[in-house]
Amino acid sequence: MKRFTKMLFAAAAFCAVSTVASAQVKIPADIEALLTKNTCLACHRADQKLVGPGYKEVMAKKKYKAEQIVELIYAPKPANWPGYPPMAALASVPKEEALKIAQWIVTLAPKKK
Ligand code: HEC
Repeated sequence: MKRFTKMLFAAAAFCAVSTVASAQVKIPADIEALLTKNTCLACHRADQKLVGPGYKEVMAKKKYKAEQIVELIYAPKPANWPGYPPMAALASVPKEEALKIAQWIVTLAPKKK
C-alpha cells in the first residue's frame, strides 16, 4: 500500500511537469500576467487539467458568458466539477482583472461548426 501511494505521487508529479511542457494554447502576454498575478496558473492551464480543469474544458462543458465566470471566481461552485478539490473563492481579484480573464476564457470555447 505504501509503495502504491509513492507511485501515485510520482505519477502526479510527472503529470504536472508534462502538463506545462505540452501546453498548446498560446496565452496572450497581458492575460498571462493577470493569471500569474492572481494565482490562477497555480491550478489552471488553458488546455490541460491541473489542480482544476483546463479553461478549454470548462468552456467545452459549460459554455459560460464572461459575467458568469467572473461570478464563479468570487463564488466557485465545486458541485460543477465532481472529482476536483473545491476552488477557494478569490475575493481579492480586482473586478476589472477578473472580467479581462473571463473574456479571454470565453474565447477558448470550441468553434461552432
Ligand atoms: C488553489 C487552486 C485554484 C486557484 C488558485 C484557482 N482555481 Fe479555478 N478551479 C480550481 C478547482 C479545483 C476547480 C474545480 C472545482 C471548483 O469549481 O470548485 C476550479 C474551477 C474553476 C472554473 C470553473 C468554474 C465552474 O463552476 O464551472 C473557472 C472558470 C476557474 N476555476 C477560474 C479560475 C480563475 C480565473 C482563477 C484565478 C483568478 C482561478 N480559477 C484560480 C482550482 C483553482
